[in-house]
Amino acid sequence: MNRIVVIGSCNMDIVVLADKRPAAGETIMGNELHIAHGGKGANQAVAAARLGAEVTMVGCIGEDAYGQMILDNLKENFINTDYIVTVPNTTTGTAHITLAEGDNSIIVIAGANAKVDKSVVDNAWSAIEQADLVMVQNEIPIPTIEYIVRRCHEANVKVLLNPAPAADLNPEWLELATYITPNEHELSALYPNQSTEETLLANENKIIVTLGSKGVGYADNGEIHTVSGFKVDPVDTTGAGDTFNGAFATAIVNGKSLADALHYGNAAAALSIQRLGAQGGMPTKDEVAAFLAEN
Ligand code: RIB
Ligand code: NA
Repeated sequence: MNRIVVIGSCNMDIVVLADKRPAAGETIMGNELHIAHGGKGANQAVAAARLGAEVTMVGCIGEDAYGQMILDNLKENFINTDYIVTVPNTTTGTAHITLAEGDNSIIVIAGANAKVDKSVVDNAWSAIEQADLVMVQNEIPIPTIEYIVRRCHEANVKVLLNPAPAADLNPEWLELATYITPNEHELSALYPNQSTEETLLANENKIIVTLGSKGVGYADNGEIHTVSGFKVDPVDTTGAGDTFNGAFATAIVNGKSLADALHYGNAAAALSIQRLGAQGGMPTKDEVAAFLAEN
């Protein structure tokens, strides 16, 4: 079975393309504006759905035009939106993204995403308990993340926690998650007093560290393994991690081994960064298959 429930953020990304970032107190002219679908939760849901998983999105939107656009976009990607709650008098989450000098910088305004609480999770419990995998990220309140991880652990439901953006989460409940997928920076926020190797070895087949274009690392049987990434020319790396997570999750629920699922995640992420926007360039199943056949 390949039922995935994503509990997380839905954002509208306000993307500005410019030659450089303005200094404090400076005004500059930029080049282009793009309004694009984003949010780590919605991005991971779309990535998994395009790859053939049966996806339910759980989260909150505001009572505004962006909220309606987000609902429409999720539906267009064949995602179940029955458990998306519309919160009155709140803005939909937004991410304010500058693409300049080959990299992005992002300010996120949580808006309705800050309202994803226990009641939103409880309301979706009938879907969550039947999921083959639940996915969660750090763009909803941390007490809600803890509640999800603990409750799923008790109910024997697998959880993939992508701890992005970086936050200091308590290992006591964090490690109840089935998979944890930080990048190097997020990993050091979780385990500030030990090396990457030590952390991976203490959490075999659980913590997967993403290393950008270098691929991903994990430990198994007392050894560190690296699954290399693919070399492509990036247009926009926004959402690469989300595509990786959605693709990895889809491969896992389809019964792939950890190493094969990571390889699949790397391929989907490589394809996604060749187009502008977090969800722009997120590949279909056939596109990943064709890419893997050629690379
Ligand atoms: O991971 C990328 C996402 O992070 C963007 O889509 C933006 O919404 C931010 O939350
Ligand atoms: Na993209």
